[in-house]
Amino acid sequence: MSAIRSVDLGRIYDSRGRPTVEARVVADSGARGTAGAPSGESTGRHEVQAFPDGGVPVALDRFRELVRPRLVGAALDLGGVDALLHDIDGSPRFERIGGNVATAVSVAVALTVADERQCPLVDVLRRPGVEPDRYPAIVGNCMNGGRHAIGGPDIQEFIAFSPAPRPEDAIRAALAVHAEIGSALHARYPKAALGRGDEGGWVAPIPNVEALELLATACAAVRDRLGVPVHPGVDVAASELYRDGRYRYREQTLDDAGQLGFLTDLTDRFGLRYIEDPFDEEAFGPTAELTRAIGGRAMVVGDDLYTTDVDRVRRGIAARSTNAVLIKVNQVGTVTDAARAVDEARSHGLATVTSHRSGELPEGWLAHAAVGFGSAGLKCGLLGGERVAKLNELLRLGGATGAPR
Ligand code: PGA
Ligand code: ZN
Repeated sequence: MSAIRSVDLGRIYDSRGRPTVEARVVADSGARGTAGAPSGESTGRHEVQAFPDGGVPVALDRFRELVRPRLVGAALDLGGVDALLHDIDGSPRFERIGGNVATAVSVAVALTVADERQCPLVDVLRRPGVEPDRYPAIVGNCMNGGRHAIGGPDIQEFIAFSPAPRPEDAIRAALAVHAEIGSALHARYPKAALGRGDEGGWVAPIPNVEALELLATACAAVRDRLGVPVHPGVDVAASELYRDGRYRYREQTLDDAGQLGFLTDLTDRFGLRYIEDPFDEEAFGPTAELTRAIGGRAMVVGDDLYTTDVDRVRRGIAARSTNAVLIKVNQVGTVTDAARAVDEARSHGLATVTSHRSGELPEGWLAHAAVGFGSAGLKCGLLGGERVAKLNELLRLGGATGAPR
């Protein structure tokens, strides 16, 4: 195994135009890897801190003073580097060096290992027992609301969920739903200038239930036309609506029982197959009630509930809160930490969904993570170069383009 010859960190910008960091690693052997870290907006309370107080400039200083001197000369070993990052930081939440710095370095090291072994990244990330030729469903954002879209509905994401086994079918179907919704919105609001939100979904001044109606109709039309399975889903991002024990929608205010009834009803009415963060990020119990009610027909997914943290995943398993776990590497800081959450979920029969952030970069490594982690879903948005980069990488992995992996 070779050693790390150099590691650098620089400021780049994410899809929202906000600064983040990119790491470049070179090994003794000449193998190299470059990766950037994305950023969330509706972040969970238990995520690691993306940057130290003072932001990117302080992160760059700390990197030069604390991180680089310890990494140069260290073995090119992903688990070893990730442990070293924790050791250098010394805080439970990467407050000193920044979780985004850890993420960029960790992914860049994984890419360097792949370069050294002359194999695709997916082979470095593959968890034990994951079959090589299984591909995730596409969890594609078609309409944006909440904090990702000013002027939209208050449910954060309206999703086309396509479990077609071949990536090219799933992607084609999800993109077709996005287009179908665009046409339907233009017909419905002929005078309004429709925008797109942070994740490339449409933004329209449409109430939640009507948005779901439109989504379900679009999915049915695409299913009929293409003969590919594609179903409606939502990311409620309910913590963003939760204040003083109530879920505060524009049109209604609900307590736990009300929220349970509302979401169960929506699932029945519109055939939802995917519901993320249906309750507040601390609500392990109420989320379990929803999973009891609809978990047989829909994926109930914890994002802010778990923040990719293995201890919180364990809590969710004990409480039977969900049947799936969202995986975001930079919620927890390193690839190794994320893999721990994946292994815990998998060993208890929970599905995982590997996910982008709302502020992204035009990089494709997330597709390798989704396949290598054996995830049931890849959540990466549908439109915008930073989203399409992941879809196209999944197509390459699936062999659709004939490009070498
Ligand atoms: P974030 O949101 O990347 O802004 O945190 C995405 C999500 O809630 O899934
Ligand atoms: Zn979410």
